[in-house]
Amino acid sequence: MDFTTLCIHGNNEKYDETGAVSVPIFQTATFARPAVGQSTGYDYSRLQNPTREHLEKTVAQLENGIEAMAFSTGMAAIAALMELFSPGDHIIASDDLYGGTHRLFFGISAKNGIIFDLVNTSDISQIANFIKPKTKAIFVETPTNPMMQVTDIAAVSRLAKQHNLLLIVDNTLLTPYYQQPLRLGADIVIHSGTKYLGGHNDTLAGFLIASDLKLIERLRYIYKTTGACLSPFDSWLLIRGIKTLAVRMDKQQQNASILAAWLCKQNKVKAVHYIGLASHPGYEISKRQATGFGSMISFELDSEFTATRVLERVSLIQFAESLGGVETLITYPMLQTHADVPFAEREAKGINSRLLRLSVGLECVDDLIADIEKALLED
Ligand SMILES: Cc1ncc(COP(=O)(O)O)c(C=O)c1O
Repeated sequence: MDFTTLCIHGNNEKYDETGAVSVPIFQTATFARPAVGQSTGYDYSRLQNPTREHLEKTVAQLENGIEAMAFSTGMAAIAALMELFSPGDHIIASDDLYGGTHRLFFGISAKNGIIFDLVNTSDISQIANFIKPKTKAIFVETPTNPMMQVTDIAAVSRLAKQHNLLLIVDNTLLTPYYQQPLRLGADIVIHSGTKYLGGHNDTLAGFLIASDLKLIERLRYIYKTTGACLSPFDSWLLIRGIKTLAVRMDKQQQNASILAAWLCKQNKVKAVHYIGLASHPGYEISKRQATGFGSMISFELDSEFTATRVLERVSLIQFAESLGGVETLITYPMLQTHADVPFAEREAKGINSRLLRLSVGLECVDDLIADIEKALLED
């Protein structure tokens, strides 16, 4: 079945007798047992819920996994994932991570004895140099948020397999519509479902997807024990959002490529990071491992003054955190998503006072350009 059909019909199971086309929201905490020692297959909504199960089966199919687990947020998914590791375990991760993941690693997981090294994972030799006897996993975001660094997933997977390491890929920015890391050799895929999968800036969600049965068993145990599951209503919002994933992403990408090309021509714009630009260092790898470039752009202005003026002057585009929704959002990574990353680390990556990030939405691209053009004008 084609991806776009899967998005709409999911696993196509029917959960009631009425013929309801939209999956019902099973808004219940618990389920009555038919008799002692018997179960309907549903006992308690932290463990199983039919609405969430429909979503999980759909996401597992979209990512080519065997099982998906739906969490209350992307961070809840990553926090649960960290429970796979024990004190002394070492993880090599991308050095341009989403700020919340960075905070989790160094503010919480490190306290629990997990050791991290951050490297530029787009350079395989850097990863290889950091592998130690205690290394257990490689954690990659590709493209990264906000600098759009691209990692060759298949090449990292070969290295991970040689050393018996788990390869974990945060696939939030491209989604399975454009990139399927499990097919490229990853072991676990992460999503902030809050972003493109939900797609409407109206709810939070997270996912872990895997295809190894032993790994799934362990993750499911952590999932039901730690309990950050997605509610039935939010599961339904995600099911609804995913129905239009393919069309949204195609149109958002079309808008983003026009906007990126336009930004490149503006005097006050000094650099544009969009993986769909042929000049982007990750362009060739992206063409090989993904079927699209997505709609995230970061760009650097000539001064902090111009950057803050753009943020304060845009009116159609909203100055807000998050990404992947139908509304175009502009973010100041230095003060928002990456505020907790140490200053020197941020600066070294280019996350400075001149850098803005755009999540390009579904509006008419001419209106988006007009909004930024007006914000860039001199007084
Ligand atoms: C790449 C990436 N991963 C994970 C997260 C965390 O997801 P959430 O905000 O749903 O907890 C985000 C949030 O912005 C993100 O951009």
